[in-house]
Amino acid sequence: MPAVVVIGGQWGDEGKGRVVDLIAQGASVVARYSAGNNAGHTVINDLGEFKLNVVPAGIFYPEKTCIIGNGVALDPGVVLNEIDQLVSRGISVEHLFISDRCHVIMPWHPLIDIADEKMRGAAAIGTTGRGVGPCFTDKVARMGIRTGDLIDPDAFRKRLDFLLPYKNKVLQQLYGVPPLDDADVYQRYCAFGQRLKPFVRDTAQIVHEALDRGETVLLEGAQGCLLDLDAGTYEYVTSSVPSSSAGGAGIGIGIGPTVIQQVVGIYKAYMTRVGNGPMPSELLDETGQILRIEGPRPEIGTTTGRPRRTGWFDAVASRYSAMVNGVTSGVLTRLDVLDNFPSIKICVAYETPDGRTLTTLPASSVLLGEVTPVYEEVPGWLAPTNTARSWDQLPKGAREYIRRIEKLIGIPIDIVSVGPERDQAIIVHDVLKVKPRT
Ligand code: GDP
Ligand code: IMO
Ligand code: MG
Repeated sequence: MPAVVVIGGQWGDEGKGRVVDLIAQGASVVARYSAGNNAGHTVINDLGEFKLNVVPAGIFYPEKTCIIGNGVALDPGVVLNEIDQLVSRGISVEHLFISDRCHVIMPWHPLIDIADEKMRGAAAIGTTGRGVGPCFTDKVARMGIRTGDLIDPDAFRKRLDFLLPYKNKVLQQLYGVPPLDDADVYQRYCAFGQRLKPFVRDTAQIVHEALDRGETVLLEGAQGCLLDLDAGTYEYVTSSVPSSSAGGAGIGIGIGPTVIQQVVGIYKAYMTRVGNGPMPSELLDETGQILRIEGPRPEIGTTTGRPRRTGWFDAVASRYSAMVNGVTSGVLTRLDVLDNFPSIKICVAYETPDGRTLTTLPASSVLLGEVTPVYEEVPGWLAPTNTARSWDQLPKGAREYIRRIEKLIGIPIDIVSVGPERDQAIIVHDVLKVKPRT
């Protein structure tokens, strides 16, 4: 004990990978519990710069057990390539295990993802096109292939006998896409299965054994609350089942909710979003462009290379995500990006077209797309933060900005990240230490 969940508090890319790399030292197991290779987590440490899509960000500590949990949609080619890349850079994967219950992204899933987006036209979600949504759709429709099936050529053959003719009919007759060749799919994916086999385990068991020994298990989320299928800005969300929220973590790893004692919510000091959908505080002007390019790591999507949409910190949406995830500790990242702004705005409410003021996140993405942000303006600090390593070393204006955000979203900021490198952080409170409930 305990299990600690790390979630994104906004629309993804808050710096979850960077934070997990920072705090994993205090855990013995790091496990991804949802999503697939739509996620992209950048980690910069003394071993170099890494972009992880599926492998947990604890992989840089050779003695830690890393787990790809049953809630992850697994593209075998992508994960094997990621493993190869890590190994080629001297990173050990000896303690990496993949659940035998992961749903496998099959070659029809990206084809369906891309074709669906085309059919949606102006209503497109702006997906990553990696087939993650269709894979989770098939999981719910009971038409999935799991890693346990993939590594067993007979079981895989049986699943494919039913699924491939079905999927080929869908590809041809609904989407007008050429069918997939059975022998080719079987051979390629059997080969993937055999390469994956040494990693595949009953990973829930491994996690429970660690918990029984009293060790800390870190559950690494992907995406963010506002992209969550239930909690997010539906339908402009991702399709993870279990969800990318803290509530999905137990399901995606095979532990009960009573084991989870802390929820760490990662928030950027401003907002970004990739893909379509409402974003009330979005800045389409020069200020938005400055937020996009300022600082050492510009706002470019890790997975698809798309420029991220940018805007001021949205305290309404962030408070909502802290609430629905039961966040106990907040982490504020990319504070350094705000260093050169003479004044900074925070969205504290939304005004609807019919003159109502909202202080909670509406369910309707249509309404959210029509609201006008109500801003509070605070002075900037016009001083570098990236060398600060303690609270007192932060400029006064930066401390006041953080205090204001804590008050608005109702959670303490326990870590402040002031740069992308492992040591560029201020640890106010150890987020792995269980706090007394207030
Ligand atoms: P994730 O998906 O939540 O893991 O986030 P991403 O890795 O997709 O995006 C976060 C980006 O911000 C990465 O390029 C990180 O290297 C970078 N980053 C993380 N923390 C900081 C920070 O405090 N300051 C700056 N400038 N960059 C940061
Ligand atoms: P990390 O873990 C940012 C977005 C896509 C799109 C929507 C649906 O790096 O924070 P999908 O391919 O999942 O069906 O696309 O969700 N999206 C992300 N945006 N960061 C992510 O992950 C994302 N994963 C999905 O851009 O808008
Ligand atoms: Mg990312």
